Amino acid sequence: MTAFFVTGTDTEVGKTHITSLLLKYFAHHKKPALGFKPIAAGAEMAFGQPVNTDALLLMESSTVHAKYEHVNPFCFMSPVAPHIAAKRENRQIDLTRLSTAFNEIKAYDAQYTLIEGAGGWMIPLNDTQYYSDWVVEEQLPVILVVGMKLGCLNHALLTLQAIEASGVKCVGWIANQIDSNMLEYELNIETLKQHLSIPFLAESPHTEDKPKLKVQPALHRLFGF
Ligand SMILES: Nc1ncnc2c1ncn2[C@@H]1O[C@H](COP(=O)(O)OP(=O)(O)O)[C@@H](O)[C@H]1O
Ligand SMILES: [Mg+2]
Repeated sequence: MTAFFVTGTDTEVGKTHITSLLLKYFAHHKKPALGFKPIAAGAEMAFGQPVNTDALLLMESSTVHAKYEHVNPFCFMSPVAPHIAAKRENRQIDLTRLSTAFNEIKAYDAQYTLIEGAGGWMIPLNDTQYYSDWVVEEQLPVILVVGMKLGCLNHALLTLQAIEASGVKCVGWIANQIDSNMLEYELNIETLKQHLSIPFLAESPHTEDKPKLKVQPALHRLFGF
């Protein structure tokens, strides 16, 4: 099983949207794949348990079917920062608990697992640990989703710098046209291609209908097909 950690330049930049499209790309290439959303804050009650819409979308896009509680082991009701949500519910998130949950996901034996982070790269899990510490501990390759909007150059460059400084590899970036009104969208993509020292993997244009991924050759190379 090969796993990738999908992070983004911020919250609401399209991590779930892109992870779901990548899962469909795996399905198209007949590669068994599974989406994993370890921590989600913001839930509604369904079938007597809290469920989060990101996790549900990833489940819908996965060809390997896992139980909800395995796909999203830390689901909090309140849409706030995870460590605050956890405190409110008297629960604890830490590196060991995340790795235990990841081991349960590994047992499904998907060929590819895509792990959607929460918020951006530097998200506290508790008073002393960050989500990024876990990515480093597991040595997961990272895919960076850039939400294309004014300010994204700064966010993308800082995020890549932080990922690399943490000691994990960022294997590429994906442009997501989150803002349909962004001025000079193409020139911003060109600027990112020039300044980010990692491969440009794909682009998802803004759409109100069927989401679409314009795949670049580097994405095929990354996954080996
Ligand atoms: N390329 C796109 N075109 C249109 N809407 C998009 C696109 N990407 C994301 N969205 C919408 O923007 C919102 C935030 O995206 P989401 O994937 O949930 O972000 P994140 O997971 O980073 O918080 C969602 O409502 C999603 O449907
Ligand atoms: Mg999301």
